[in-house]
Amino acid sequence: MGVDFNKPRVGYRDLREYLKLLESAGLLKYVKAEVDLRHEIGAICARSLDRKGAGLFFENIKGYKGMPLVANVLSTTEQLAIAFGTEADDGKIYDTVQTGKAKPIPARVVEVAPCQEEIHLGDGVDLYEFPTPWWHELDGGQYIGTTAGVITADPDTGFINMGMYRVMIKDRRTLAANFKGPHPVGEPPTGPQSRVGYGGHTHILKNEALGKPTPIAIACGMDPVLTYVAGQAVPSDKLEHAEYAVAGGIRGEALALVKCKANDLLAPADAEIILEGEVVPNERAAEGPHGESQGFYGWNDQTFVIKISCITHRKNPISYGLVCRCREDYPKFMLSAALRDKLAGIENIKEVYAPVIGGGGMGLMAIIAAKVSSPAEVERIIEAIQKIPYESYTSHKPRWSVIVDDDCDVRDWEDVMWRVVMGVMPDKDVRIGPRLDRITHEPLATLYDSKASSIIIDATFRSKPGKSKELGEFPPVNKVSKELMSKVESRWKEYGLEQLWRTER
Ligand SMILES: Cc1cc2nc3c(=O)[nH]c(=O)nc-3n(C[C@H](O)[C@H](O)[C@H](O)COP(=O)(O)O)c2cc1C
Repeated sequence: MGVDFNKPRVGYRDLREYLKLLESAGLLKYVKAEVDLRHEIGAICARSLDRKGAGLFFENIKGYKGMPLVANVLSTTEQLAIAFGTEADDGKIYDTVQTGKAKPIPARVVEVAPCQEEIHLGDGVDLYEFPTPWWHELDGGQYIGTTAGVITADPDTGFINMGMYRVMIKDRRTLAANFKGPHPVGEPPTGPQSRVGYGGHTHILKNEALGKPTPIAIACGMDPVLTYVAGQAVPSDKLEHAEYAVAGGIRGEALALVKCKANDLLAPADAEIILEGEVVPNERAAEGPHGESQGFYGWNDQTFVIKISCITHRKNPISYGLVCRCREDYPKFMLSAALRDKLAGIENIKEVYAPVIGGGGMGLMAIIAAKVSSPAEVERIIEAIQKIPYESYTSHKPRWSVIVDDDCDVRDWEDVMWRVVMGVMPDKDVRIGPRLDRITHEPLATLYDSKASSIIIDATFRSKPGKSKELGEFPPVNKVSKELMSKVESRWKEYGLEQLWRTER
């Protein structure tokens, strides 16, 4: 039976209830030992993430008695399945998200909200109230925004946008936030002012043109669906309060919003903490370094400055963060989903997968499995890849594309590389795209000039002429069939071989 998207489909209301579900499924662990905000939490999270460990609930943070922090709670496929109310299967998670996105449900506004149980104004505003880690050893500050939703409104339409941008604490009441934002294809930048789009960046630039501040709210500790949607490209210029409506569509129920105390923005009522204030017009600040998903530290001296005038939070708030290094599973879904949408018109394509090696943006790689039997069919796919525009960090033309036959397990790196090694004649099967897209991310921006080229590798066997004479077709791949493999796997314990499973890569 299909999923009913008209009914609430996730078994929790907010982050807290989601954590309970994770705990009962054995996917959340409590860390009782005292841990330090300075790098220790980040290193624990990184190690655990690399081993696909459980979510971590730090309940004994040095200097922050009774103030917990959670991390790694939207990391593994099993956790994502609970977050989206579906099965722990890539295809099912993908379909649930995409179907929900296509059926947005407008949010509802409530008068009384958990996120406003406690309110701090004036001298009571202190961003150091919450345990915020120095996630990476060279981070230039404490990053309170790693999984937070940054809320601004378009001054022309009033439509709210929520984006996920890194946000660093500058002092008790000041933040610096690194909004990049979409920009037109092929337009080289001349500075941050040149970027246009529909996200928070554009809202700030529109207000700045009139010398006005931009009202802003930053929601920390949101439910996992909204956390996921905040980091995705959503058309908030076309749909009112788009991220909220899309998150409602995925959940199958309207999200509850509440009006902020310091401005008229609407914030998620069930978030843990809301930071409210204004972006100072025409002021920029240095921000970073911060360990980025591309695998390097990134920094910026052009980030927006935010003055916080009000903090609201739940009683006993739970901080929620991420050690940004793209070893979580959810960016793979985002990036793979965006690419699948872009290549949806080509019916031979069976699977598109974006392994998170270099993060999104310029680091994006696509493994494309297709049923192809002629060079012309591969050529159509190559053309389609070349036409993908740059839109945003999470919706982008891949800089590396590898096309493989449809029997390849796109998630198995060794299978993909075997096809590259065996199926690619470099002088024939490698296409270098011209320099087109603007480089926005370190270190490419430092190493190369402002435009990036791309590479498409045809690692298919079956599209190529000169197939095996003896067998008529290309020789079959001598891999154990899925059916036989699952039969053998089901008896593995019986064979007495379970200790031979490789547990750590
Ligand atoms: C964990 C995570 C961190 C991100 N950090 C940033 C960031 O620091 N700056 C940025 O411009 N985009 C960042 N992104 C990507 C944006 O959230 C994404 O492009 C989103 O669509 C932006 O929203 P907007 O188009 O409404 O501006 C991040 C995404 C994720 C998932």
